[in-house]
Amino acid sequence: MNTQASRPRVWVSRPLFDDILDRLREYFDIEVEERDRDWTREQMAQKLRDKTGAILGVADPVDAGVIAQTPLLRAIANRGVGYNNLDIAALKKAGIVATNTPGVLDETTADFAWTLLMATARRVTEAERWLRAGNWKGMSFHIMLGGDVYGKTLGIFGMGRIGQAIARRAAGFRMPVIYHNRSRVAPEIEADCKARYVDRDALLREADFVVLTVPLSAETRHMIGAAELAAMKRDAYLVNIARGGVVDDAALVAALRDKRIAGAGLDVFEHEPEVPAEMLALDNVVLTPHIGSASLATRRAMASLAVDNLIAALGCGPNAGRPPNAI
Ligand code: 8YV
Repeated sequence: MNTQASRPRVWVSRPLFDDILDRLREYFDIEVEERDRDWTREQMAQKLRDKTGAILGVADPVDAGVIAQTPLLRAIANRGVGYNNLDIAALKKAGIVATNTPGVLDETTADFAWTLLMATARRVTEAERWLRAGNWKGMSFHIMLGGDVYGKTLGIFGMGRIGQAIARRAAGFRMPVIYHNRSRVAPEIEADCKARYVDRDALLREADFVVLTVPLSAETRHMIGAAELAAMKRDAYLVNIARGGVVDDAALVAALRDKRIAGAGLDVFEHEPEVPAEMLALDNVVLTPHIGSASLATRRAMASLAVDNLIAALGCGPNAGRPPNAI
C-alpha cells in the first residue's frame, strides 16, 4: 500500500463517473476536471507535468512535444477505442504505456450506426423539425419521401469489431453486405457476418449505404473525398460513425448540396465541435455530436475499463503490470 506522501498523481482530463473513479482513489492522488473542455497541447503539457498517469478523452492530444515536458508520466488510459489523439510511436519511445477500451462499445456503436442509417434514409430529424415548426396541417401523401432500407446493399469500410457488429444486424433487413478492409477478414467472420469482400471502387459503386468504421490515420485521412462521393450512386447514403477527417467535409457539403448523393448521417466531423455552417443549412444530412458509444451502460463500461487499464499500467491492482488493453 502506498503511503500518502508517495502516492502517484493521476489526471482525469474530463468528468467521469465518480463512483468508478473511486477505484483510482485507492491507489493514487487524482485530479479530476469538473467540466468538459478541449485541451491544447500546451495545456496538456502543463496538466501532465507532475502526473504519473492520466485518463484522457479521445480528443485530448499527446505528442512528442507534450511528452518532452512530462518527465514523470508512465501511463495514459484513453477512454475510447480510437487513439488518433495519441502519438503512439513517441509514447513507446518514452516508455509510456498507452491503453484504449476496445470491445465494450462495439454493439452500442453498431446500434447507433443503424440509428443514423435509418434516420437519414427516412428523413427523421428533418421531419421532426418540420413538425415542431408547426408545418403539419393535414395528411399528405407526398411529404418526406425517403429511401428504403430493406433489401438494399450495405457497404462497410472497415471490418473490425464494430464493422462486424453492423454487418450482423443487416440480416434482419435482408440486406446484402459488402465490405472493404485493409485486409480480408477470416472466412468464418465473413460467413458469420454474411459479408462479401470487394475492392474499394466496387463498394462505392454498388452500395446503397456506405458506412465508415475505419480509424483515422495518415492512410485514411480524406479517404472519402469528391472523387469517391462522385463514384457513389446518386440515391446512396453515407454514414460516418468513425472519425471526422476520414471524410473531406467540404467535398461532402458540395455533394449533398448538389444532390450527388441522397444524404448523409454524420456523428463525427473534421473540426469537432465545429460543424460547417453550410452543412448545418442542409436538410439531407442527419447530424449528431459524437455520441456513437453513448449509452449509459456502455459509457460506464468504457470508464471502468480505462480505470482498470490505468491501475494495471501503473503497477497496481490484480493485473499489476499487465493492463488488459495496452496498445
Ligand atoms: C468516444 C470514440 O470515446 O471510442 C471512441 O473512439 O470516439 C467514442 O466512443 C466517446 O464519444 C467519448 O468521447
